[in-house]
Amino acid sequence: MGKRKADSPPRRVTVGTVAVGEEGKRRVREALDRGRISGGKFVQEFEEAFAAYHGLKYGIAVSTGTDADAVAAATLLARGAQRGDEVIVPALTFISVANAVLHAGLVPRFADIDADSYNLDPEAVEAALTPRTRAIMAVHNFGRPAPMAELAEIASRHDLMLLEDAAEAHGARYRGRLVGTFGAMATYSFYVAHILTTGEGGMVITDDDELARLCRSLRAHGRACDCKVCVLNVDSSYCPLRYKYGDDTDIRFHFERVGFSSKMNEMEAALGIEQVSRMDEIVRARRRRLEYYNEHLSRYEKYLKLFRPGPEEEISPLCYPLLVTPEAPFARFELTKFLEQRGVETRPAFGSIPTQQPAYRWMGHAEGEFPAAEYVGSRGFYLGCHQNISDEDAAYVVDVCAEFMERF
Ligand SMILES: Cc1ncc(COP(=O)(O)O)c(C=O)c1O
Repeated sequence: MGKRKADSPPRRVTVGTVAVGEEGKRRVREALDRGRISGGKFVQEFEEAFAAYHGLKYGIAVSTGTDADAVAAATLLARGAQRGDEVIVPALTFISVANAVLHAGLVPRFADIDADSYNLDPEAVEAALTPRTRAIMAVHNFGRPAPMAELAEIASRHDLMLLEDAAEAHGARYRGRLVGTFGAMATYSFYVAHILTTGEGGMVITDDDELARLCRSLRAHGRACDCKVCVLNVDSSYCPLRYKYGDDTDIRFHFERVGFSSKMNEMEAALGIEQVSRMDEIVRARRRRLEYYNEHLSRYEKYLKLFRPGPEEEISPLCYPLLVTPEAPFARFELTKFLEQRGVETRPAFGSIPTQQPAYRWMGHAEGEFPAAEYVGSRGFYLGCHQNISDEDAAYVVDVCAEFMERF
C-alpha cells in the first residue's frame, strides 16, 4: 500500500464516482450556449448511440431509471393489461423497481431470488404467477445477469411481456449477449452511482416500433403526437400533424393516455454521449476491480461470500456485494462499521422489499415468505467497484478487511 503524506485528507473509497471528461464539458457548454436546454439534439444523439451500442433501434431517454421502469411497465396498459394487473419483480432489489410498477398503475408481485446469484429464482417466478400477471421484470442485480433463458421461456409459455431492468448492469453479458437485448424492452438508470452516469437520467431501449412510440408518448404526459417537432425541440418548426383531429383540436394538448412528465434535458444527454463512447473502457476497469477483490479476499471465503460470475455470465459490476455467511463469528454491522470508520463506504444489499421495507407493509406479506431475499437482505452489503478506485485504494480496502479479519 502506498505511503500517504501526513497532511493528505483521509482516504475515502466511495461506492460511486463521477468523472466528466473534456468532451462532456464541451457539450454541456454548447447546450448552454445554444439556449435549448430541454430535450434536443443531444438527447436524440444519446438515445441513438446507446440503442446502437446494444444493436437495437430505439432509445427513449427519460428523467430517471425509476421513470424508465414506470414508462416501460405502463406500455402494458396499451397492450390489454388492466389497472391493478401484476408485474413480477424480484423480492430483493432496489425499491424503485416496485415503486415504478405502482407508478404505472400496476401491482408488483414479488418472487424470491436465488441467494447465490442474487437474481430472480425461475421456480419462484412460476410460483408467483396469477391470472392477473402480465409481465416479468428481470432485474440484473448488482450487475450480474439474471437467468434470461429460463425467464424468457416462462414468459413465452405464459404469454407475458419480458422486461429487463439493467439499471445496475450496463455492459453485462449473458451467454455472450449484452443484457438489455433479451426482453421486449430494457431500462437503465444513469444516476450518479451507476456505471454510466449523467447525474440523473434513464433510458428505455427496444427494437419494437410500437413500444418505442408508446414510450415517447408516456414520457411526455401521454401526448398524442409522435412527430419529431413534438418529441424533441430540435427546431421551432410547426407540427405537421397539429390539427389532424380537426381544426379545433390542437394535438399538442391532446393526450391519448395517462403519462408521466419524464424527459431528459440536454446537459444530461451531453454527458451521456461521452459516457457511451467510454462504455467499454469503464466496464473493463470495473471488471478488473471485481477480479482484484475476488482474488485478494478469497482467503476469507468461509466468512464472506464473494461476487463470482456463474457459467456463461459476464458481470458488469455496479458495486462489489459481499455477504456475511452464517459461519462468521461477527455480525454484518461490525464489519461495515469498521470499514466506514476507515473511509470505505458501504451500503446494505437493499433488503427484501415486501418483508424488510416498511414502505411495503401495506401489502401484508409476512417475514419468512421470501427466505432468500431476507437472508441476503440481512447479511449482504456492498462496496464500491468503479473505475476511479485506484490500485492503491483497492489494496487499502483489502488491507482494511484483513485488519478486521485478523481478529477472528
Ligand atoms: C435496479 C434499479 N432499477 C431502477 C433504479 C432507479 O434508478 P434512478 O435512481 O435513476 O431512479 C435503480 C437505482 O438507482 C436500480 O438499482
